[in-house]
Amino acid sequence: MLNVQIKAMGHALPTRVLTNSDLEKMVDTSNDWIIETTGIIERRIAEDSTSTSDLCYDAAVMALHNAKVKPEQLDLIIVATVTPDMPFPSTACIVQKRLEAWNAAAFDLAAGCSGFLYALSVAEKFLFTNGYNYVLVVTSDILSKITDYTDRNTCVLFGDGAGAAVLGRGNSSGDAGILSTYLTADGRGADLLYMPAGGSALPASEQTVREHLHYLKMNGREVFRFASKAMVEVSENLLEKAGLGYQDIDVFIPHQANMRIIKTAMKNMQIAEAKTLITIDKLGNMSAASIPVALSMAVSEGKVKPGDVILMVAFGAGLTCAGAIIRWGWN
Ligand code: ACO
Repeated sequence: MLNVQIKAMGHALPTRVLTNSDLEKMVDTSNDWIIETTGIIERRIAEDSTSTSDLCYDAAVMALHNAKVKPEQLDLIIVATVTPDMPFPSTACIVQKRLEAWNAAAFDLAAGCSGFLYALSVAEKFLFTNGYNYVLVVTSDILSKITDYTDRNTCVLFGDGAGAAVLGRGNSSGDAGILSTYLTADGRGADLLYMPAGGSALPASEQTVREHLHYLKMNGREVFRFASKAMVEVSENLLEKAGLGYQDIDVFIPHQANMRIIKTAMKNMQIAEAKTLITIDKLGNMSAASIPVALSMAVSEGKVKPGDVILMVAFGAGLTCAGAIIRWGWN
């Protein structure tokens, strides 16, 4: 039996901070409304000159260093993002070039905020079936570049960041590794969270720019409803596949979209706040990067220990919902 394990994590965050009081000067909103409705106090925003591949590269370098894996040892690079540097080539190929990971295949994957967990599941399959030794999963979104800072419904929510994981095959006698993954999608919600223009459906034109169609549009209330239900359904499927119960979970990492969604999930799953990683207050919703950044920070701070059973669940554009249970460690 080969266990697919996360050998190490890395993350990268822009230094520029956007506070609620900054947003009060930009749109008709208030610090109290934002904190009460979302739990967000501040978020990080990338510099204009920073692209998704830049943040991916920094997170990947940290993960590779922590894993003691050289770029040339990578067999595959998967970048999960909805804000690629450009439609093509893939951001994964741009990251491959910067890392000089010449032995790796590379592709992008788009699953909205569920991107890290979709990519983790895909990486697991490649490690099982292709004889690969190491796969780099990097997830980064710079949602600030597709956010309309005149739209108070969305501009208070998002921050930028990147998280990376180096995955490999562990020792057959070890018990650490991925215990279960579960992916879902419901395309009936495709128009609840989307960017209308810039693709083949509505190519860029003066009119699309004038009408703000290159910005993210969201029906927050419907996404909220989907998330509250889907997170529990996915968690229960994951637990069943792994033969575990909620009482076995040591660390819970929910997608960081809204503190009220996180609290509803904790209540429905009866998982204590002390076991739940929360970064939304300081980092906002970083889309696909939210979960790996939270995990990477927790590992760096010693909050995740070898043997801990970690439940991760995310939802996002698509609509998608995905999860994974892993036993932390490398053996
Ligand atoms: N400041 C002040 N008032 C605001 C603001 C704001 N920033 N934004 C909206 N409001 C107002 C609305 O205009 C509305 O006013 P009205 O009643 O006079 O019309 C009122 O507040 C309530 O608006 P709702 O949209 O109903 O507020 P809700 O409680 O649903 O909260 C929110 C909005 C925070 C967006 C919530 O719905 C949410 O978090 N949804 C989930 C979104 C999500 O998770 N998205 C990420 C998906 S992941 C990905 O792939 C990126």
